[in-house]
Amino acid sequence: MEEKEIVPLLRSLGCGENVIAHILAVRRLALQIADSVTISVDRELLEKGAVYHDIGRAKTHGIEHAVVGAEMAKNMGLDERVIRIIERHIGAGISRQEAVALGLPERDYIPETPEEKIVAYADNLIDGDRVVSFEEALRRFKLILGEDHPAVERFIKMHKEIENWREGQ
Ligand SMILES: [Fe+2]
Repeated sequence: MEEKEIVPLLRSLGCGENVIAHILAVRRLALQIADSVTISVDRELLEKGAVYHDIGRAKTHGIEHAVVGAEMAKNMGLDERVIRIIERHIGAGISRQEAVALGLPERDYIPETPEEKIVAYADNLIDGDRVVSFEEALRRFKLILGEDHPAVERFIKMHKEIENWREGQ
């Protein structure tokens, strides 16, 4: 997929220009991460997941944009694996209990596959359309959620896991 095809696609789904810029940055970083790891990653699936991950923002910017986006993807007949990337990209994943507290449908939103993890991770390292370091992203995480929030630990774990993939462990 090329950026010049992605932009009109996202516009046709109702995404705003800032969301589109964000999506393109996440896609670029996700593909870069895929190129840097030694585990096998389905690049085509990863790219699709990155391109569609924030389509729910065409309708809402609330945390439920992941569920809304997954619903849109379902209606468009997209691959089940792409739908799960969309649904699980929020934060560093959201547990069932946290989902209930947030008013989301009761289920786990924890990324499991490499493609799900890379999209969620790349999304956390893009602030708007700018790449930030893990340390900066972690600081922001703590600021928003509080030091003790379980998502902070999950984000650190996610970072370490991806770093390990880079070292080929
Ligand atoms: Fe998102």
